[in-house]
Amino acid sequence: MPLKPLSTSILWSKDFTKPTRDVNAAIAVYNKSPTGINLQLVEETLNRPPRIHWAKQFKEVNSLEFAIAQEKEKLSGSSGTPGVLGAAAPKNLAPSRWIERLFLDAPSLDGYVLLGDSKKGAQGATFKFELGNRILLAKTARGKDTNIQTECRREFEFYKLLYRRREHPNLAKVWGWADLKLGDQHAEGFLMDFIKGADGFAAQKLLKDHWDLGIISTAQYWGAIQYIGRCHITVVRYLNDAGWVHNDIKPENYMVSATTGEVIVIDLGGAADIGRQPAAVTSNYLAPEMRLGGRPNPEAVGSVGSDVFSIGATLAHATEAPHAIHEQARPNQGVQVKAVPYLSNTPVGLVRNQFEYGVETDFTRQLNRMMSEHPLERQKVVDEVASNRFLNDSMLNDNEAKEVLSGVVSGRLDMEWRLKWAAAGKTPPTLLITDRSRIERDLDLKTRALKSKVTQDAVNITEGMLGMMRAELSRIAQLIQHANAFGIDTRRHQNIVNQKSREYDLLESEIKKPKSTALKSSSSSSASPKGKKI
Ligand SMILES: Nc1ncnc2c1ncn2[C@@H]1O[C@H](COP(=O)(O)OP(=O)(O)O)[C@@H](O)[C@H]1O
Ligand SMILES: [Mg+2]
Repeated sequence: MPLKPLSTSILWSKDFTKPTRDVNAAIAVYNKSPTGINLQLVEETLNRPPRIHWAKQFKEVNSLEFAIAQEKEKLSGSSGTPGVLGAAAPKNLAPSRWIERLFLDAPSLDGYVLLGDSKKGAQGATFKFELGNRILLAKTARGKDTNIQTECRREFEFYKLLYRRREHPNLAKVWGWADLKLGDQHAEGFLMDFIKGADGFAAQKLLKDHWDLGIISTAQYWGAIQYIGRCHITVVRYLNDAGWVHNDIKPENYMVSATTGEVIVIDLGGAADIGRQPAAVTSNYLAPEMRLGGRPNPEAVGSVGSDVFSIGATLAHATEAPHAIHEQARPNQGVQVKAVPYLSNTPVGLVRNQFEYGVETDFTRQLNRMMSEHPLERQKVVDEVASNRFLNDSMLNDNEAKEVLSGVVSGRLDMEWRLKWAAAGKTPPTLLITDRSRIERDLDLKTRALKSKVTQDAVNITEGMLGMMRAELSRIAQLIQHANAFGIDTRRHQNIVNQKSREYDLLESEIKKPKSTALKSSSSSSASPKGKKI
């Protein structure tokens, strides 16, 4: 069944509707040629913006997702369906086999089961294969598009050349190039170890949440951030030694393993020789010399310095605005206070923001150096590693940092924390309201707003309004619970809430009085001359 495109409103800005237009374009492609890969493209486009983007269209998006799931089911059925690669691809039941192995101990492909498509990026399709404990991820070229075919192949060639020199603990283990059996069809691609965990974008958010909630300490938070930075620097130096630039360093292009806590830089699809034009880049993490009028400059060439800049922007995003989407936070333009109120309706200035302080710290110095205007200044971060004060001066060593990262990404620390709260018979604070001083402030502001007397306006208050007032009261009551959890003294706020609650009860009985008596009493009490006019 063809998929139904999403609707938009002329009231929405072009920027806002861009993801919708992208999804609709992908839907059009799929409806014309309903293959597994085209379906995956629709899903990818839908998943590209963060969830919150679809808030206005969430019903439609829900039904679209449902329709996609149904289509998937149809495509995965065996008889008479077009198969993962579409009807045009010839049927071939031969097993998967290696075409080229980078390591002699590459796992034998016999018996690997296709788990379905994994999380996917923009360039091609990825597939997960499982055998026992081992999961492999295949990155395949999309369809017959020769450009993309070479891009996938090129990424493999990069790994191949790199691994001829030596492996790197912070790069993915790529085993080789294979002819893969996908259902009853075949495609070529490269196979690497699947990293169970979270990509950097998710990991950074998780880290911040854990810190805000007090699940990890300040030392653990910064230790993890410093480790992420150090790993990236070693990868860039390693690539640089081989004569290459990554060109697309950003939170989505590293993974954090849930089992080991290791930071693995991925996506060499945009990598190029130093001084050559990159193939794929993301403008929000891009160095100024790589941009032209806010967009990637197709003429610009990557350098070690431009990679270092992107590491700086990645760290800036992690520490300053991990919950913000790229459009809200511009990590490559420094830091965005603006990104925060967008998420929590918090007035600008309330949220602590490292770059906003009038003090210099190792952190600000390090980021200023990594994101300096001058590429050569940035390059020092790789050449003179010892002078990276912030990155090196960590309270946690590598193993301790990895321990934090795996605890955060696997959900282990969160679980332990919840169990502790449960054992104490209390509800843990939620992730939405996190910061102690913010809760205190919110509570004060909200209870202050409650104080004005409403009783004399009783006649003007409708039941609907009273409902809203009560809802606000219960929100404040919830806030009080959170505040209690943080050990804030809430007795005064509780008194106000109790008093208001009684006032509202009175109001309610006023409102519920039969209209006539209410009218009578009001007209008799205010026997104005107007009222006597006949
Ligand atoms: N080895 C891996 N293990 C687990 N997930 C991976 C792995 N490689 C990539 N991914 C996931 O797939 C996504 C897309 O992969 P990536 O190599 O970045 O391709 P693209 O060039 O399409 O962005 C990543 O953001 C990540 O979430
Ligand atoms: Mg990517």
